[in-house]
Amino acid sequence: MITLNVDLGERSYPIYIGDNLLGDKKLLQQHVPGRNVLIVSNETVAPLYLEQILAMLEDKHTETCILPDGEEFKNLETLNTIYDVLLGRKLDRNTTIIALGGGVIGDMAGFAAASYQRGVHLVQIPTTLLSQVDSSVGGKTAVNHPLGKNMIGAFYQPKAVIADTATLNTLPDRELSAGIAEVIKYGLIRDLPFFEWLEQNMDKLLQRDTQALEHAIEVSCRNKAEVVAADEKESGQRALLNLGHTFGHAIEAGLGYGQWLHGEAVATGMCMAAIMSQQLGWINTEAVKRTTSLIAQANLPIHAPNDLSIEQFIDLMSVDKKVMDGVLRLVLLKAVGHAVITDDYTPDQLITAIQCSYAICVIIMDHLAPYGSV
Ligand code: NAD
Ligand code: GLY
Repeated sequence: MITLNVDLGERSYPIYIGDNLLGDKKLLQQHVPGRNVLIVSNETVAPLYLEQILAMLEDKHTETCILPDGEEFKNLETLNTIYDVLLGRKLDRNTTIIALGGGVIGDMAGFAAASYQRGVHLVQIPTTLLSQVDSSVGGKTAVNHPLGKNMIGAFYQPKAVIADTATLNTLPDRELSAGIAEVIKYGLIRDLPFFEWLEQNMDKLLQRDTQALEHAIEVSCRNKAEVVAADEKESGQRALLNLGHTFGHAIEAGLGYGQWLHGEAVATGMCMAAIMSQQLGWINTEAVKRTTSLIAQANLPIHAPNDLSIEQFIDLMSVDKKVMDGVLRLVLLKAVGHAVITDDYTPDQLITAIQCSYAICVIIMDHLAPYGSV
């Protein structure tokens, strides 16, 4: 088992990464201080892993809240069903909420933990690659609003993150690829050697080679933990973790939540950011090619969806959380392995970048088959 630490003073916590951690009773119990536990999961994950979690908590008072599965349910209405259970079962302030599932469950259970009685204990047990490398770490919790993704939420750190790589064995291929998008993100924004490692090892990741997956999760979490420790509430460099997200969130909200997976939208968003960086003269065509090639190799989409117009993109991007005093800041690339946050661009340059992103395959990816519909 690999143990990393998110260094946040008295709110520091461990990230455990390893095979079959869900069988380790002591590991979980040391992060459950009280008698009461609420496990929040969904109707896909609960049949697979809930029994194992309950077995580790046999001496506790456990309640469960099983939510419908899907990004389209990540909203205030579904969140309210968690409060219904918490209040209906009279769960007190010393309750621990366990988030068992992917990023949707982690974000919603996390927000419930942040807000119920002004804060109860939270343990994240992420079961998708995306949630193991990103969403379970760092304390961002939220639900969506029809007008904007993750717009209602709070920063709230868990007591521990338990990432059991064995849970990835049941993950569909499309979800695995979506997780790889966030893995590639760390290489692009701040870790060139990791990007190079991914170029060499993408096939192993797609074949679910255990060692390769563990390495990718460890390096990703290490990167995330460093960034979060330096800037927990995103007043500066944490925004770099949003590479591709401003474009991606527009795709998710614009097409309707759940049409494209979050990781798929981020993948295309990173290609769009690369194109825009190239147009600003910051990176060369070769860097765009490397970025889009690796993303395509992970079976992820690389071009913007045709059914989302430039006007829709611009409109949806304008409600991004990186808008400050009416100015949209974007995360763009100065090099592969070096991202910056910037408002140093003109509206025309943004429009041109979006325009080019519809045709990215034609322009620079002529050696690759365009990604099909997702
Ligand atoms: P998800 O939670 O929807 O999970 C993907 C699918 O896989 C779901 O159908 C789920 O039921 C299923 N699943 C989960 N674990 C499984 C397993 N082990 N075996 C089989 N099926 C399994 O999606 P996700 O990609 O994990 O997370 C995306 C969400 O995370 C988005 O809402 C995004 O906004 C959020 N996010 C948050 C942060 C953050 O910092 N808080 C960071 C990145 C993404
Ligand atoms: N996923 C972006 C962040 O945690 O800041």
